[in-house]
Amino acid sequence: MQPVTITPSILAGDFARLGDECRTLGEVGVEWIHVDVMDGHFVPPITFGAQMCAALRPHIRGVMDVHLMVAPVDAHIDSFAKAGADSITVHLEAGPHIHRTLQSARAAGCKAGLALNPGTGIEAVAHLLDDIDLLCVMTVNPGFGGQALIPAMVDKVRALKAMTAGRDIRIQVDGGVSLKTARSLAQAGADLLVAGSAVFQGGPEAYGRNVNALRDAALGTLA
Ligand code: DX5
Ligand code: ZN
Repeated sequence: MQPVTITPSILAGDFARLGDECRTLGEVGVEWIHVDVMDGHFVPPITFGAQMCAALRPHIRGVMDVHLMVAPVDAHIDSFAKAGADSITVHLEAGPHIHRTLQSARAAGCKAGLALNPGTGIEAVAHLLDDIDLLCVMTVNPGFGGQALIPAMVDKVRALKAMTAGRDIRIQVDGGVSLKTARSLAQAGADLLVAGSAVFQGGPEAYGRNVNALRDAALGTLA
C-alpha cells in the first residue's frame, strides 16, 4: 500500500485560534494542512480569504493546501499564491476555462489541484492530466464539514487512480473521512485524506492520536 498523508481541514478547528490549531498540528507531525475557502456563492457559507491564509502561513509547518470553493475563481489565484499557498485546488465546475485556471495556478508557482463535485463525471479529467498535480475527489457535497461520505465516490476514486496511473498526480479525497471510511478510500487509491471532524474531535490533546488512528485505519493496521 502506498503512503497515506492525513490532511487536517481547519474548517473543523476553532476559528478564534486557528494559528494555535495549525501549530499544534505541526507539533504532532502533520505535514499538510487543508484550508477551505468558501465564497457564499459557489457554496452557501463564507469562510475566509487570502488575508487569513497569509496570517496562518507562518504557523503552518509543511504544505498549505488551499481548496478554493469559489466561482468565478481566476481573479483570485494570484492572491492565494502570494499568501503562501503551496497547492491551490480549483473546482472543475467553477468556470468555463478550467485549463487556463489550472495553468495560472502553476504559473503563480503553486501545485495545481483539480476538484470534482460528487455529481461530476470524470471524463473531462482525461484532457487535463498534463496540467494537474493533485486530483481532489469530493466525497461529500462541498460546503460543510461533518457530512457522511457518499459511498459511490469510492468507485470514482478507483477510476481516477486508473486514469492517472504512471503519472505524478496525487489523489485526494475530501469529506466524510473517518476511521470507518479511510481504509476503503486508501484501497481505492487515495493517498491524501482530508479530514476535518475526525481530526479535531476531542480537542488539541487528541489531534495527534486522531491523525495516527486515521493513518493506521487507512493502512489497515489500526489496533
Ligand atoms: C467540505 C470541505 C471539507 C471539509 C471536510 O466542503 O471541503 O474539506 O472540511 O470535513 P469533514 O472531514 O468533517 O467531512
Ligand atoms: Zn476541502
